[in-house]
Parts: sequence; C-alpha cells; structure tokens
Amino acid sequence: MNELESLLDSNKRWAKRVASDNPEFFSKLSRQQSPDYLWIGCSDSRVPANQIIDLPPGEVFVHRNIANVVVHTDLNCLSVVQYAVEVLKVKHIIVCGHYGCGGVQAAMENKEHGLIDNWLRHIRDVYRYYRTEIDACANEGDKLDRLCEKNVVEQVLNVCSSTVVQNAWRSGQPLSVHGWIYSVQDGLLCDLDVVMASLKDFETANQ
Ligand code: CO
Repeated sequence: MNELESLLDSNKRWAKRVASDNPEFFSKLSRQQSPDYLWIGCSDSRVPANQIIDLPPGEVFVHRNIANVVVHTDLNCLSVVQYAVEVLKVKHIIVCGHYGCGGVQAAMENKEHGLIDNWLRHIRDVYRYYRTEIDACANEGDKLDRLCEKNVVEQVLNVCSSTVVQNAWRSGQPLSVHGWIYSVQDGLLCDLDVVMASLKDFETANQ
C-alpha cells in the first residue's frame, strides 16, 4: 500500500467534514480569498500558521522559510509580500519566530551545515548586532531564546524596509507589521511589541 494513501484518505474525511459543517464553505472559498493577515514564519513543522491562530483556510496568507528570515533581495518572500499587500490588501503582516528554533541555533554554532550556512548567515548578522546583550545571558538556552526574539525584531524591520511596504504607507494604505514569538512548549504566542504602522514608526525605530 502506498505510504501516502493515509494522507489522501485523511483529506477525503476532512473535506467531507468541512462540507457537512458548512455546505457553502468550498464554493465560497473557490470564488475568492480575502485574508486580512500575512504570516511570515519558520518552516518548522511544529509552528503551523493557521492552526496556532485557529483560523480556517482563506483567512491567512502564508510565507514560511527556515528561521523566518526576510532577506532584502529574496524575490520569493518579496513577491509574497507584494501580492499580499497590493492585491489582497492585507491589513497586518505578522513575522512569527519561535523559541528553540533549529535554524537560529545552527546560526549560533561554529559548525558547518552545508549550503544552509549561507542562509543562516543573515541570522549571524543579527547575533552580531546584539552580541553584547545576547552574550550577557546566563546560559546557552537563554542566549538562543534572546536571539530568536532579536531575529524577529530584525525581520520586522526588513519587512518595513521593503519598497512594497514603504509604498503602501506612502499611499496611505492601512498596514501594520508585527513581531510575535511562539513557544512550542505551551502553544502560546507572545507579542514582542514591535508594531510598525507608518513610515514614521519605522524611521523612529531605525534611529
Ligand atoms: Co524554526
């Protein structure tokens, strides 16, 4: 038996259950999506966007990569941001990191991991910006947690630096960018309180 057959069976059961709870669900959703949120998170299987904010399909536009990094020249991520902001007109962009992130941990280590080290280099840069504060932490676990938080803050700033977000603010489009962190240990999200809702907020944060 095909190993993936159970997934296809699960899908059939899920689609049937959703349709029986709400017969209009799929026909409505097939006509359009109008999510208010763009989620930029880590690829980690324990941090599934829709599930942890308890939203059904159609409510959140999602981009995930290793360690929720927003690189200034990453056309994949920037295209997602552009589509979300300019076409879907999302009102909020949430950058969500998580404690114990393997990508962030690998970036802190002086070990070779292959190709991915080039990606993780961006997080090493974050470590460099906050080195004094991070190295002052009592133990390795606290250091990792702090870097996971700082990485979210920096990625929020990177989202805000994009021409897409800056142009949206210039044209008066309501759009705010938030930084959250998730704990895989208790399933809870924490708002890191780095909300940017205008060019002025962003300029103040960059001073
Ligand atoms: Co992660």
